[in-house]
Amino acid sequence: MRIRFVDRGLEAEAAPGVTLLEVAEAHGVPMEAACGGFAACNTCRVEVVEGQLSPRDDVELPFLDHEGQRLACQARIVADVTVRLAPG
Ligand code: FES
Repeated sequence: MRIRFVDRGLEAEAAPGVTLLEVAEAHGVPMEAACGGFAACNTCRVEVVEGQLSPRDDVELPFLDHEGQRLACQARIVADVTVRLAPG
């Protein structure tokens, strides 16, 4: 699947099921992950520009202001997707 980090000018291929944070780390995208991927810090928040990620879960919801936001450490690849890194 094709993952595009639009504000970084970077595209990557990723297998379904991996987290967006794992994709970012594997391809050198400078994404903060202060809590280490445990949905506790909100530094990995991204905006979905186009496409789809796994459904939002209850762990993420307290951190998200609107539907297009996701925590990269919780969102898993399910299809092609384009995201923009957002300030935590
Ligand atoms: S890495 Fe901390 S919330 Fe995602």
